[in-house]
Amino acid sequence: MRILSGIQPSGIPHIGNYFGMMKNAVELQQKGEAFLFIADYHSLTTTPDPQALRDLVKNMAIDFLACGIDPEKTVFFRQSDVPQVTELTWILNCFTSTGLLERAHSFKDKVAKGFVPNNGLFSYPVLMASDILLYDANLVPVGKDQKQHLEITRDIAQSFNHKHGETLTIPEADIRNDVAVIPGVDGQKMSKSYNNTIAIFGGKKAIRKQVMSIVTDSLSLEEPKDPTDCNVVKLYKLFATAEEVAALEDKYRGGNFGYGHAKQELFEKMWDYFEPMRERREALENDLDYVEDILKAGAQRANEVANQTMDRVRHAVGLR
Ligand code: ADP
Ligand code: TRP
Repeated sequence: MRILSGIQPSGIPHIGNYFGMMKNAVELQQKGEAFLFIADYHSLTTTPDPQALRDLVKNMAIDFLACGIDPEKTVFFRQSDVPQVTELTWILNCFTSTGLLERAHSFKDKVAKGFVPNNGLFSYPVLMASDILLYDANLVPVGKDQKQHLEITRDIAQSFNHKHGETLTIPEADIRNDVAVIPGVDGQKMSKSYNNTIAIFGGKKAIRKQVMSIVTDSLSLEEPKDPTDCNVVKLYKLFATAEEVAALEDKYRGGNFGYGHAKQELFEKMWDYFEPMRERREALENDLDYVEDILKAGAQRANEVANQTMDRVRHAVGLR
């Protein structure tokens, strides 16, 4: 079974990204042959600055390796290192009705927000379908927001196969409904676009500052507090054992325990949790050649699979 997922390089990862996606990608390595790529072609639809894009891709590679992507288990590569995907996109564009793309929520949402779309953004789901179909992926773990893109992928593949015989592997989406939405410092969903994140990597002072900015009610130090709806407790649960959580909840109820104390405990737990990853990240940053070698080796393996699929596809449509 082949598992495949892609991620857009989009800046410093936060604990929402880590628990919502990165940790899952690391765990999936145990389940089958995993392909994971950094979707830099997709980023061109919204990140036009070349140096910014290069830096984002490099940092994303380092972050994922630091968090536990094992290049022995995962074929880890840059999307644009396999340019065959753009050829497949062209071919699949010719099997995709414009109506299907006009119905895409992510496209409609961006347009509704006043974004003036280019054709790349319109055809984003076709590039994504090509990512998946090029590598004969069976299972594609994605967040709920990507569900429709997977349906579009299946539609395109089915219409191709209907016309030209079984050529493309029809993938299944693996939508994780159990992944909780991690709250940000203001209690809304943690997201870069809401400016409410706690980064997983960065300086101690800066991260402590983010933790200290978590919004709570304004009960005084002495007053007993209710842990059930507190953002600090919700985040603490991600890092602590059941006993540690129970102990913190007891302190809340007992009074004479302020939110500042709770935040300090959260900060320490979190800092320790990411310690090994931080160390790995530092080592990787000082060995960028090694990171590049991993991406190159991943690209080589991805190219082998891609070339086989493209042979079938070109033959099926009459290009060879
Ligand atoms: P952001 O909202 O910060 O821009 P992205 O949209 O780039 O984050 O999300 C990247 C991945 O991280 C997606 O798989 C998404 O489902 C996951 N993710 C982002 N924020 C959260 C969150 N608060 N809780 C759980 N998962 C999240
Ligand atoms: N569109 C996905 C996202 O924004 C990223 C992506 C690109 C992807 N190609 C993919 C995910 C292929 C899974 C499979 O999260």
